[in-house]
Amino acid sequence: MNKNILITGTSSGIGKATVYEFANRGWNVIATQRNPETETDFNQYPNVKLYALDVTNLASVQMAMSFAQKEFGKIDVVVNNAGYGVDGTFEAMSDEIIEKQFNTNVFGLMRVTREAIQMMRPKGGGTIIQISSMGGKITFPLYSIYHATKFAVEGFTESLHYELNQFNIKMKLIEPGPIVTEFYGRSRQFIKPTDTNQYDRFIQKFNEAAEKVMKDAEGPEVVARMIFKSATDNSNQIRYAVGKPGPMLLMLRKILSDKWYFWMVRKSYNL
Ligand SMILES: NC(=O)c1ccc[n+]([C@@H]2O[C@H](COP(=O)([O-])OP(=O)(O)OC[C@H]3O[C@@H](n4cnc5c(N)ncnc54)[C@H](OP(=O)(O)O)[C@@H]3O)[C@@H](O)[C@H]2O)c1
Repeated sequence: MNKNILITGTSSGIGKATVYEFANRGWNVIATQRNPETETDFNQYPNVKLYALDVTNLASVQMAMSFAQKEFGKIDVVVNNAGYGVDGTFEAMSDEIIEKQFNTNVFGLMRVTREAIQMMRPKGGGTIIQISSMGGKITFPLYSIYHATKFAVEGFTESLHYELNQFNIKMKLIEPGPIVTEFYGRSRQFIKPTDTNQYDRFIQKFNEAAEKVMKDAEGPEVVARMIFKSATDNSNQIRYAVGKPGPMLLMLRKILSDKWYFWMVRKSYNL
């Protein structure tokens, strides 16, 4: 029997690539988006169903889950992909900007996770896959709030896996490195103060180094393939690093002291 997967944030990037990955492998895909009425890319896939889901709105999460359950009976895998990055200087970030970032990347992911658990537990289990980031384990300049959200996702998911093991619900964390998507385009929210130029040189150095990193970045398909692996490998592995140089940096963070790791980051950004 075909398996069923629900994915959040499928209008572009990793979410969209993941829809294609699973649909091409014969899974039924419940692709969810904030504004599904504008989506036409999945039209030629009879096994892809499109629903509205905004992770910041509990009623919309519950409605999409309940539609999916009615239509497919059991949802085997839920992928918490919806998210975006705020970057820039922290002192210029308003409460509203910080709260929205957490409401999407952390509380939104928690809402979907809770509803997924309530759906999966009575059905004998399932797999919940969180799209975290290498930035959930290591940090770079000018991403303080984004890192805070992804560190939260890592701690939340790691603790949760203990209590859900008994119900055969597996928790997975995908940790992508830099991936070419709308994350750095229309989804990006860059913040800097308007009343001082004291950060400008730092921002410029960071941007120059970041541009170089993005030249070698991989596309979202590598992440989609890793998500498929995590959904189907039947292992108890929790973390899956993907997207060069992410896996190498995560390894270096494990073996280097704070002093040497921070030196390496400063050096690579010329700070
Ligand atoms: N690209 C990278 O380098 C990278 C690296 C590590 C981790 N990640 C993570 O990967 C995930 C996907 O990002 P991406 O790189 O594929 O970027 P993307 O192309 O910008 O995709 C982000 C998706 O999230 C959706 N979204 C945003 N807020 C939402 C909300 N409130 N409810 C539902 N959907 C929402 C967007 O939908 P709209 O069209 O409605 O805006 C879009 O479909 C994110 O969690 C991101 O943090 C990305």
